Amino acid sequence: MKKDLVLVVGASGTVGSELSRLLKEQGYSVRATTSKPVKEDSSSLVHLNLVTGEGITKAFEGVDKAFFLSPPGYADQYAMLSPLVQEAKRRGLKKVVLMTAMGANASEDTPFRRVEIELEKSGLAYNIIRPNWFLQNFNTFWIQGIREQGKILLPAGNAKVSFIDARDIASVAAKLLTSDEFNNKDFDLTGSDPVDHAQVAAAISKVTGKTITYQEIKPEELKAGLLAAGLPKDYTDFLLLIMGFLREGYSARTTDNVKTITGKAPHTLAAYAQDYKASWL
Ligand SMILES: NC(=O)c1ccc[n+]([C@@H]2O[C@H](COP(=O)([O-])OP(=O)(O)OC[C@H]3O[C@@H](n4cnc5c(N)ncnc54)[C@H](OP(=O)(O)O)[C@@H]3O)[C@@H](O)[C@H]2O)c1
Repeated sequence: MKKDLVLVVGASGTVGSELSRLLKEQGYSVRATTSKPVKEDSSSLVHLNLVTGEGITKAFEGVDKAFFLSPPGYADQYAMLSPLVQEAKRRGLKKVVLMTAMGANASEDTPFRRVEIELEKSGLAYNIIRPNWFLQNFNTFWIQGIREQGKILLPAGNAKVSFIDARDIASVAAKLLTSDEFNNKDFDLTGSDPVDHAQVAAAISKVTGKTITYQEIKPEELKAGLLAAGLPKDYTDFLLLIMGFLREGYSARTTDNVKTITGKAPHTLAAYAQDYKASWL
């Protein structure tokens, strides 16, 4: 029997690339999207720009199931994702998995929560996954301070965080897209052992042999750095807001959803540091 064609939005990114790999490994066809120019759309790669809406209709042609995420940098995730939910509904897709973020359902009127509600009410089979802060932020967003100054520079206090490895998020999404066992449920996704940023610095020090430390900075300093790096003001404000929740301890909570869905315990901080060691050398 022919296996489903799965649309993966953000397929070149941290979660999407691993999700695409896992789906292909299981024999599924993947349609990747990119906002970058594509010479010619094909069944496996299409141009899709969620800011302009360009490419949505074409992206869904012949698709059975879909994975949606909102690219970082845009604070109005509803504007980005609602047209995708609408198109999925119009075409009666067999399943949609939507990734938002842990805490997105704390209030009913945040842009992320509004998309979640739209999907819940769509009549489609769906799952919503809400990951906690990614471990992979230390080899992407926060890498410059680590490589250039040997420091994790964040206004995170001493709060513990149940960071999740993006590879576990991808494993969960792959399972949910290829099974109906958990249909129409939402899952907060976390690692199993909450750690603070000093512990992350110690884990990176251990594998690299370098001295990496955590240094707390003021929220205004992070804001200035993010704006200088070119992030839009509204998205910077969003990041500062959720960093405030982290500092107050809201990101320490753990769930056993990764184990329940995939059958495997989440990656530990030590395993992540070992696997990504080359990033910090
Ligand atoms: N990092 C965290 O700690 C964390 C925690 C919880 C939730 N999240 C959520 O995770 C999501 C990000 O996931 P990720 O880290 O896997 O993403 P990522 O690695 O930053 O990748 C973003 C993807 O979006 C695509 N993209 C960029 N601009 C686009 C546009 N205008 N239209 C369509 N696609 C576009 C990119 O591909 P092209 O450049 O090829 O277009 C890329 O594949 C966000 O929604 C964030 O809120 C993150």
